Amino acid sequence: MQRRTFLKTAAGAVAGLTGSRHALAADAEIELSPGNPGSVISPHLYGHFIEHLGGVIYDGIWVGRGSKIPNIDGIRTQFVEDMKRIGAPNLRWPGGCFADGYHWRDGIGGAAGRPRTYNYWQRQMPRGLDATETNQFGIHEFMRLCRLVGAQPYVAANVGSGTPKEFHDLVSYCNAPAGTVTLADERAANGDRAPFGVQFWGVGNESWGCGGTMRPGEYATQYRQFVTQFPAYATPFLVATGPRGHSADGDIGWTTGFFEGMRGTRPPDGFSVHYYTDLRQTKIKAGDFNAAEWYEVLLRGARLEKVIGDHWNEMGKFDQQHRTRLVIDEWGVWYPPGEEIAPGYILSQPITLRDAVHTGMAFDIFNRHADKIAMANVAQTINCIHSLFLALGDKFCRTPAYHIFDMYRPHMGAQQVPAIMKIPDLNVTGLAGAARLSGLSSSASIRDRRLTLTVTNPSLSDTVAVRARLAGQARASEARATVLTHADMRATNTLARPDEVKPAALAVRVPAGAIEFSVPRQSVVAVEVQIAPG
Ligand code: AHR
Repeated sequence: MQRRTFLKTAAGAVAGLTGSRHALAADAEIELSPGNPGSVISPHLYGHFIEHLGGVIYDGIWVGRGSKIPNIDGIRTQFVEDMKRIGAPNLRWPGGCFADGYHWRDGIGGAAGRPRTYNYWQRQMPRGLDATETNQFGIHEFMRLCRLVGAQPYVAANVGSGTPKEFHDLVSYCNAPAGTVTLADERAANGDRAPFGVQFWGVGNESWGCGGTMRPGEYATQYRQFVTQFPAYATPFLVATGPRGHSADGDIGWTTGFFEGMRGTRPPDGFSVHYYTDLRQTKIKAGDFNAAEWYEVLLRGARLEKVIGDHWNEMGKFDQQHRTRLVIDEWGVWYPPGEEIAPGYILSQPITLRDAVHTGMAFDIFNRHADKIAMANVAQTINCIHSLFLALGDKFCRTPAYHIFDMYRPHMGAQQVPAIMKIPDLNVTGLAGAARLSGLSSSASIRDRRLTLTVTNPSLSDTVAVRARLAGQARASEARATVLTHADMRATNTLARPDEVKPAALAVRVPAGAIEFSVPRQSVVAVEVQIAPG
């Protein structure tokens, strides 16, 4: 059983406060200042990523027009409906590693005439299983999916095996008005007269690895060549490949080297950081684990905050105005192989309550750093790594992570609310022995006098009584709360038991100037509070 020590704020230790619970009116106190809001939390922090990999696109999303599985023009209906329900703001596609081997013209024109091509992920398929790309899901199908969901497209361009011309042709094909360039007329002939209006472009992916095994200076040269003649039909948001944030050293050298190579030229709008809570070199399983393995995942997940700060500071050395913002376009918990939902569905894994708690902690970090982050994309939305959904033929389920996206939705587009938290740290045991974890994670935001406070309790044993005080004259007129938890830390939703983990209502009180509620052990809580006028 872990003990709590030291009082902390969300950002760090509070000078002068020393640690017993008895000094507090509750186990944790949070001071909220809704009258002093900060940055807008971009809805894009709650973004998505789908790749031509295992069962993500084919079966997960694309079931085909002739399928018995309910579909809209070949796209799984249930996926569309659930993505709409959580207000999915964007979709990154077609990879990932696949993107730097993808040639977009293979995915246009009549379905029967599209070539079958090599898929990068063939190398990881189990012996005897084939990953040949059928190209039935191309740019038109992707855009249709985005329109159905109401999501902005974020297209990752092929830098590793493509050319600037191939990239520019794709941009013109997507964005030029029909009747202007030939590529726009070709798009119209293929069924989409109106331009796609793609704004978000990734200039390669993981160019230090599967995207070309480049040095940062080499990539900076490539980046400049790929963007200088960019066809500007719509104001673009160009994202450069950034570091492997989950490297042992955080990969600061990539950030330094890239921005050195960019000196004197226009900086990118976004700089991608990939941060996986990467357990692939451990024996930690996705579905079955002990207390130390629960805490190990959350300890590693919490490092994301330092990675964000370190790269932001490094970028500031080159650009004090911070014209470039971070794009965390792959994040999630990644376990070793062995628990896939089907043999060819590589990188799929069960998602448990532990991953839901990790999701809440990650979103709280994103919310607290909303001034630095333009976008974040979970890797990946369905049938891969940190999935919101698992699908296999006619079976489909929402994972516990899905419910966190739903519970955090009110933060999207709201303004940050300063939250100073006083809570003892947790002393826990991870894989390397004793460690400390913040006693709770939290973030707050406000829109139209509606305040949202989210709180995550990583403890496997302690319920935490929270008293959130509203600074100044603010008064709560009404509140409601939702909790996601389960008696079993390993609880999960499966294709056979899709509703084992689901949100429930939680009691919340609003005494004068405060909000009081209890956060159960191993849980995530979202509280919505109406602030009275005056
Ligand atoms: O999300 C799976 C893979 O992880 C992506 O293709 C790649 O970008 C990353 O290494």
